[in-house]
Amino acid sequence: MNGKNIIIGICGGIAAYKIPQLVRLLKKRGACVRVALTEGGTHFVSELALATVSEEPVYRKIFPPTGSDEMDFTRHISLGEWADALVIAPATANTLARLSAGLCDDMLAAVFITLRPAKPVLIFPAMDGQMFLSPSVQRNIATLSAQGCLVINPESGVLASGQCGVGRMPEPEAILAALEKALHCGEKRSLLYGKSVVVTAGPTREKIDGVRFISNYSSGKMGFAIARAAARRGAIVTLISGPVHLPSPPGVDRLDVESTAEMNAAAEGFFRSCDLFIGAAAVSDYRPATPYDGKMKKDDEHIELTLVKNPDILARFGRQKSEGQLAVGFALETQTGLENARKKLVDKNLDLIVFNFFDRKTSGFDVDTNILTLIGSDGVTVELPQLSKDDAAERVLDAIEELCPKTGSNP
Ligand code: C5P
Repeated sequence: MNGKNIIIGICGGIAAYKIPQLVRLLKKRGACVRVALTEGGTHFVSELALATVSEEPVYRKIFPPTGSDEMDFTRHISLGEWADALVIAPATANTLARLSAGLCDDMLAAVFITLRPAKPVLIFPAMDGQMFLSPSVQRNIATLSAQGCLVINPESGVLASGQCGVGRMPEPEAILAALEKALHCGEKRSLLYGKSVVVTAGPTREKIDGVRFISNYSSGKMGFAIARAAARRGAIVTLISGPVHLPSPPGVDRLDVESTAEMNAAAEGFFRSCDLFIGAAAVSDYRPATPYDGKMKKDDEHIELTLVKNPDILARFGRQKSEGQLAVGFALETQTGLENARKKLVDKNLDLIVFNFFDRKTSGFDVDTNILTLIGSDGVTVELPQLSKDDAAERVLDAIEELCPKTGSNP
């Protein structure tokens, strides 16, 4: 952490009393720490304690109080430029709502907005278990995650209310470890750091005529979550996406394509150079043989559409990959899935296949959660519980990192 500039945003939750300890841990590791304290936070931890341990002034409001000798009237901007990372701990339901709405009503909210793109933002929600699980809090967390923030779920245990449940802020040591990982320093540096990762995502569209196409229900959410998580681990990520309605994950190079042929051409350019190829796209297996020029007329009672097979992008990569390159695929299945997934793993010469159970409610296309089973080329099978697509993406990447020593590669 030597020389890293860290801003810690503290909100009004009881866990705020632990943050001076986090400041000390960071300072011991050579980081420079500045604190942005919300109004609520002042009730749980003193400005004086924070200023003493950080050896810096504590920031609260955007405007300096009348009569203060503070002359930097654009501090809210310069702090965002200065910081290498922003840690918000504890993050309350109120601040999660402010941040997800884009409000800019105190220094913490302003720094959140002015922080330079691709700088990590780690958010540690901590509150009563019922509050944490409420739809509003969960919706705001989902918004912030989709924006690229790393939201670390609270731990279970005894809460301030005396009840047991999920809501406890992780200990300062755990917060420090998560920050080291996000900044790619210390022992926590990911094996994907600096590696070239290509992810395909979303559906493809195959033209029937000038205004119609064949496609599927894929939203691209799983592939985007994987690209986002890989970029957070320090990988150089190229995301090749079919038509979707999703914002680009921060720090990711995005190539938009429409058809399988276009996705194949875009992916091919990386076949030799990438360290890891993750096929998360729901690629159309067939395309109309001769798309009609213009709009087809409806004069005929029956029409016949001849479909021809599309290239299997992942299989092409899998079969030609060289020593040290890894290929990972997805297998979305409705029935007898595992056997089919194992077959695809072998047929496409993959190192890992992610069997994606499809029920359209909790798992599969478009929904925000997924139930995955990971199958390695060594036959090891790991069943994951129902997870958010962001958490599922982290688990997939953990499994990929596990593969590195076994395959003798370091993607
Ligand atoms: O064979 P199936 O389409 O079920 O295989 C799924 C996996 O193969 C996914 O990872 C998908 O992205 C990839 N795939 C591909 N090109 C195709 C078809 C599938 O890359 N034409």
